[in-house]
Amino acid sequence: MAVEEGARTSSSGSRGVGESVSAAPGEMAAAVVRVRDAVKRHSNRFEHAIPLIASENLLSPYAKELMISDFHSRYAEGLPGERYYEGNEQVDEVEEVCLALAKRLFRCSFADVRPTSGTVANMAVLKALTEPGDLVGTSRLADGAHISSASFGAFGLRGVKPVYYAWDAERMTIDVGRTREILRAVRPKVCLFGLSLFLFPMPIEELRPTLDEIGARGWYDAAHVLGLIGGGEFQDPLHEGCTVMSASTHKTLPGPQHGVVLASTEDTEVVRRLQGGAFPGVTSNHHLHAMAALAVSLAEHIEFGRDYARQTVANARALAQALHDRGFDVLAPNLGFTRSHTIAVRVEKEGGGEAVAKRLADVGIISNKNLLPGDKSPKHPGGLRLGTPEVTRVGMREKEMERIAELFDGLLHRGTPAPDVARGAADLKRDFTTLQYCFAAGEAAYRYYDLVGRDPT
Ligand SMILES: Cc1ncc(COP(=O)(O)O)c(C=O)c1O
Repeated sequence: MAVEEGARTSSSGSRGVGESVSAAPGEMAAAVVRVRDAVKRHSNRFEHAIPLIASENLLSPYAKELMISDFHSRYAEGLPGERYYEGNEQVDEVEEVCLALAKRLFRCSFADVRPTSGTVANMAVLKALTEPGDLVGTSRLADGAHISSASFGAFGLRGVKPVYYAWDAERMTIDVGRTREILRAVRPKVCLFGLSLFLFPMPIEELRPTLDEIGARGWYDAAHVLGLIGGGEFQDPLHEGCTVMSASTHKTLPGPQHGVVLASTEDTEVVRRLQGGAFPGVTSNHHLHAMAALAVSLAEHIEFGRDYARQTVANARALAQALHDRGFDVLAPNLGFTRSHTIAVRVEKEGGGEAVAKRLADVGIISNKNLLPGDKSPKHPGGLRLGTPEVTRVGMREKEMERIAELFDGLLHRGTPAPDVARGAADLKRDFTTLQYCFAAGEAAYRYYDLVGRDPT
């Protein structure tokens, strides 16, 4: 019997006081076994796969350890030294370390590490910098923006209205000239820069005079490129004209799934509003275990991030070049394809984004379909988004990117049978299953930590 079918309710559908859900002997133990088994199979699958999702990465051993610490069980509402609960002295200590490391890595005066994800960080910034009805500049989803800035996402929740920038599809970035005209005409209060399909830096310095002219505040969503910024391999938004930067901490920054808000401002009212945006605005508990893991990841990024970021971008460019050399339509060839961790490949002639992503997954190459500029229907993305954060994290370099492109070519152009490509992918991954660019490098990257050593019976 399926676990969920076992729920018992009264004939009216509601459960009376004193009535409890019952289960057959062994049934719930079986549910636990099933969950553990699925997660173990997942870990094993990724150990043998080539993961090319641009938004995913792997935690270091020291960061991972903190995810199952007692911090996981606690609350610490408020700020260090000003909590609502007792028992938070060590949490305060860790949060102070985390804040200091974040400010040091991103060379800024303000950090808040309480948002529990990139979306939550964006909601905190929206709460702080906008009021319902305000106009906020952003890119369109079809041009690579995140759903946070959609009316059915965080923008809609806050009730702000998007003002769309003009897009230069050739150069895969904002069209500065036409966007200046839009900004002057519509005068949004805040201008958000940042993408989920993020190939090239945003023209913040070019647009800054226009933002100053209309009195708009610059806000950068660094969810994808935070680790590249920290490693000195991408633009530096807080020093180019943005007041605030929000981000996830688990994409190119190989940290825990969490969020952060950073700012460079002397304006105490802005600081107060940003802190209020995080709590009580959009969090209550702030996932203390993840915050502790983030402190470790930030320390590791200060130590190893420069090399990691440089290799991540070098790998993305190498993968793009190798695919292009094999006849794939990689976007922006005249601009070196990318300056980030991500590349975009139009795969219409290979069968379209959805079909190609599925065929790749079947041979152990994990990617995602993606809308590309010019796609006719949002339901049929013509492209793939490929990213190198994870393959770099396990030590792959340019020559492995050539081998990945060979696998693509075999499967999608030369008719190599899928089982042969799958074998090739697993062979390639065999030597790349340990964590690099962190303390305790060389530890297993995909290990399932079996704390109890046996299944429940
Ligand atoms: C640009 C951008 N902002 C925000 C987010 C949301 O981050 P999270 O998944 O941590 O909520 C993403 C996620 O991919 C993103 O690409």
